[in-house]
Amino acid sequence: MSKLKKFLEILKAAMEKPYLLNLVIQNQEYQESLLKKSYPQQQALPQISLDDLGIPLETSVDSFLLDGSSMITDLALLKTLAQGKNSYFEIGTWRGESVWNVAKILEDCTTLNLSMEEMKKMNLNTQYIELHGILSKRNPKIKHWEGNTLNFNFEALQKKYDLIFIDGDHSYAMVKNDTQKVFEHLVHENTVVVWHDYAYNPEKIRHEVYRGILDGTPKKYHHKLYHIANSMCAVLLPGSFKTREFESPKKPNILFEIQVKPQVF
Ligand SMILES: C[S@@+](CC[C@H](N)C(=O)[O-])C[C@H]1O[C@@H](n2cnc3c(N)ncnc32)[C@H](O)[C@@H]1O
Repeated sequence: MSKLKKFLEILKAAMEKPYLLNLVIQNQEYQESLLKKSYPQQQALPQISLDDLGIPLETSVDSFLLDGSSMITDLALLKTLAQGKNSYFEIGTWRGESVWNVAKILEDCTTLNLSMEEMKKMNLNTQYIELHGILSKRNPKIKHWEGNTLNFNFEALQKKYDLIFIDGDHSYAMVKNDTQKVFEHLVHENTVVVWHDYAYNPEKIRHEVYRGILDGTPKKYHHKLYHIANSMCAVLLPGSFKTREFESPKKPNILFEIQVKPQVF
């Protein structure tokens, strides 16, 4: 097909279904070029290996292993980082797997998600809406708050948290919004912040999310940002760590033993 024909076809598709233009914005090559423009020296975060965190790794996690489930290593990382901490705040609940796992380690857990009404207004699938909190609501100690991080009053909380997990909307603008609000209102000097979906998989950076993290995090903290190897998570961690450069394809240096134990839910 000639370039002109292709262009006209794209134009027609975009006029019929304007949301298709999002695909152009979300295109990985385009997102990578935006990151390069803003952060030419920071194409990837330095990596810390799970066994170099200086905390014994939590090796058992609960997961539905369904669409949208975090990686086993993401959940193990959250549980590991929760050790010795007192409070956890999370943006993005979905079925509640992340907060459920953290609540096995610490008592004061809060998760914030869009309200059912707002999700209905967005015409989201009814079954999808109803599954929110299906796991985490089984633990009555977990606080479930409803709200949109765009206008949620974080200031009213008047509380700082020890561990924060940002896992809401993964567009650049929303990652930046959520990150800025967390740093404005919820962090103290030793807070550990974890972002999900810094990467699509441990070897493929999600540049849109990464740029949102960098633009939302005050510059004075940038040297504390890392990617946890074998996970999809970026973290803000106080302390000094042995790091490696991101490489893809990566020559594996760890072989994980994983036990799969199904339980009826
Ligand atoms: C990837 S899921 C969270 C998964 C969960 N943290 C886990 O690991 O089990 C993202 C969630 O963020 C919620 N969300 C999206 N945009 C949001 C917003 N602006 N404010 C609050 N929650 C939002 C969605 O409803 C969805 O349930």
